[in-house]
Amino acid sequence: MKSKMKSKKAFVFAVFSTWAAVLGLLNPAAHAAPSSSEETCRACHALDTVKVGPPFRAIASRYHDDADAVDKLKQSMLQGSSGKWGTAQMPPNPITPAEATRFAHWILQLAAPGQRN
Ligand code: HEC
Repeated sequence: MKSKMKSKKAFVFAVFSTWAAVLGLLNPAAHAAPSSSEETCRACHALDTVKVGPPFRAIASRYHDDADAVDKLKQSMLQGSSGKWGTAQMPPNPITPAEATRFAHWILQLAAPGQRN
């Protein structure tokens, strides 16, 4: 009885988080709390696994040898991005250009030195 209730809770939570992700995609303004911008990214990105968006490590290795990587990634974060990784879109993120620069550097340093893709 008890465990049955638990799994029902888990199911409700799973449905709820799926909806939260869907709503997030349709309504980027829902992510507007600036203090939780990193949490916002994690709704769609993980380090090593594909979620809604590509893994941060895959981004790091793709742009590792690109001299304009910081600018390109900044642009994508601030203005949104589509068509580079698949069919999902990244809405413009409610972060400042300075935060975008910080994220870009953080992502790019995830690639192992000398790593190519
Ligand atoms: C609603 C989901 C979502 C959120 C929130 C989100 N992303 Fe993304 N992100 C994506 C998707 C989907 C892509 C792939 C877009 C494409 O194919 O062009 C992507 C791509 C990227 C890229 C690669 C862009 C490129 O030009 O190749 C970077 C860097 C990135 N995200 C960083 C972030 C950071 C940092 C945050 C938080 C501030 C964030 N994302 C929040 C879904 C999201």
